[in-house]
Amino acid sequence: MKKEFKRILVTAALPYANGKLHLGHLAGAYLPADIYTRYQRSMKCDVVFLCGSDEHGVPITITADQEKTTPQAVVDRYHALNKSAFEKFGMGFDNYSRTSLPLHHETAKEFFLKLHEAKILKEKKEKQMYDEKAGMFLPDRYVEGICPVCSNPEARGDQCEKCGTFLNPVELKNPRSKITGETPSVRETTHLYFPLGDYQKKLESYITEADKRDTWKENVLQYCRSWFKEGLQDRAVTRDLQWGVRVPLKGFESKVLYVWFDAVLGYISSTKEWAARIGSPDKWKEYWLDSATKYVAFIGKDNVVFHCIVFPSMLMAWNENSQEKYILPENVPANEFLNFEGQKFSKSRGWGIDVDEFLEEFPADALRYTLTMNLPESRDADFYWKDFQARNNNELADILGNFINRTLTFAHKNFKGEIPDRGSLNPLDEELLGYFKSVPKTAGDLFERYRFRDGTLEIMNFARFANKYFNDSEPWKTLKGDTTRCATTINLCLQVARSLAVLLQPVLPFASEKIWKMLNLHDTSAEAGWSSAGELGIPAGHILGQPEILFTKIEDEVIQKKIQQLPSRLPAPVEKSPPKPIITIDDFKKIELRVAKVLQAERVPKSDKLIRLEISIGSEQRQIVAGIAQHYKPEDLIGKKIIVVANLAPAKLMGHESKGMLLAASDGSGKLFIVTPENDIEEGSLVK
Ligand code: 2FM
Ligand code: ZN
Repeated sequence: MKKEFKRILVTAALPYANGKLHLGHLAGAYLPADIYTRYQRSMKCDVVFLCGSDEHGVPITITADQEKTTPQAVVDRYHALNKSAFEKFGMGFDNYSRTSLPLHHETAKEFFLKLHEAKILKEKKEKQMYDEKAGMFLPDRYVEGICPVCSNPEARGDQCEKCGTFLNPVELKNPRSKITGETPSVRETTHLYFPLGDYQKKLESYITEADKRDTWKENVLQYCRSWFKEGLQDRAVTRDLQWGVRVPLKGFESKVLYVWFDAVLGYISSTKEWAARIGSPDKWKEYWLDSATKYVAFIGKDNVVFHCIVFPSMLMAWNENSQEKYILPENVPANEFLNFEGQKFSKSRGWGIDVDEFLEEFPADALRYTLTMNLPESRDADFYWKDFQARNNNELADILGNFINRTLTFAHKNFKGEIPDRGSLNPLDEELLGYFKSVPKTAGDLFERYRFRDGTLEIMNFARFANKYFNDSEPWKTLKGDTTRCATTINLCLQVARSLAVLLQPVLPFASEKIWKMLNLHDTSAEAGWSSAGELGIPAGHILGQPEILFTKIEDEVIQKKIQQLPSRLPAPVEKSPPKPIITIDDFKKIELRVAKVLQAERVPKSDKLIRLEISIGSEQRQIVAGIAQHYKPEDLIGKKIIVVANLAPAKLMGHESKGMLLAASDGSGKLFIVTPENDIEEGSLVK
């Protein structure tokens, strides 16, 4: 059920202006969004591409307090840093806005008031923790205390990390404020809630229909299904805070809109800002209010609920109460996470590298290419320094760079820098030409379906093939006896060079433009149409520009130094726990440990941590619930042999019964490793 659209609206998640962008951010949302937009522009689609800084929320106010400055100063700094890092990386945003702008505040207030006036928002009184010393209500995550379920002394107010239970901060024993360390008091406060549950049916059918037209990623659908299965609840859209968009209502003067409520509207205000800047203030409406526009929202997986559930339901609520009808995302192609050298990016442990720092030393295209080839499109992926070096040296330099360079150098040396005329084609030429004509469609179809890694691989394989064609055609030999043959080879190679510049422009905008200049072509590679990559576009007699080195190889020493600079990984910090008292062998014998086989595994809805496992311990099948969802994917567990405590008293975790417990080791770096028997031993076997 394909729908024909007139234009495309592309947004990429607004990054918080509370820290610097790292490579994980790029791979999660920004690079895919940029490749997609560049590709669609080359397809001659009318596209507008928007982003901006998300400048509200509690963490920004905490940074400001720590730095003894104002939230505005914090966001000013990071907005400028991130905007410039994006530019150096080659992001082609039409507009990079900020949610602290008056235009955004007005947009968010207008939206909020519409929902309020339509009586959609519900007012509720609730009890909340208040930090007297800091003079503020504490967001759930900023309260710590003892978990009422498992007695973990460091449970967070929203959830206990240890047992996975969702908590209300007032349930914690011995609560303390994470900001001042003081014991908070409990105060009553009033908030407005958005009734998400009322939209569940409509959301479900919206996603089903959109998925039929423009296939959604399985991981995104999975997240949505688990939210739906659990049932959507009311969500507060106001907060007791000073920093943010003021709630424009009497009695709510000391409150602001919840950061997520205003952030998603930042896409709209960024479009308005763009429209005003290009002198057509109403043009934003074409992109948001016309069903002939296709809206694609690029995000990382942690933002799925806000883009697939919260934002669409807000837009639905507006649409029900206005003549103006907003379009909903046609697709939300969220990526999983990128790790760095096998571990999560971590600012506090210095693990990872920021975009600006990276680009001071290495060219943007080398990074864009490496990230593209490692995009976490369907599962988490990794950036490794050695892989970066290999991609740059063996693929960009040795394949692409080498092909362009040898072709241009040959033409300069032997054809006076002019493109020679073709003679008749031999089977080798025909084969190249067949490939040449098919690549734009093959790669384009993959880009169209958000498979940027595979699309790029197709194009690079074509470059590989072209190199082989150069070798097999041996122009240095035919030059001597059969100049027409040699001229035909070089003509075709130059056509391929042009084609590669067009096809690689979405991924390698800088290198593509360099090739364009070397070929001395009109306009820019970005302006050339995608389909022209399948045409023999340069006429004979065309004068070429000067060849230049496209990619410089990265030396081993440089990479070695980068690896040495990583904070040392071994030995990993060992999880701290007080030594336990000595037990006897009889004590130990009370524990029945058995080998089990995982038959089924699925995430427990609404829990970041829990996975529900169906296991077989030989004579019996049963269910256990384990806090391993941040370390393992359910599908990777199925079929695995594990060790379980088989005689543990049953317990309920988030409403699911757990009969037993699996064994896992933690090294203190935050990672968890399931203990597995070394051999494929029969399930049910006793562990002694
Ligand atoms: O996760 C984040 O970085 C959020 N600032 C993303 C917001 S996306 C949208 F809502 F603006
Ligand atoms: Zn707990």
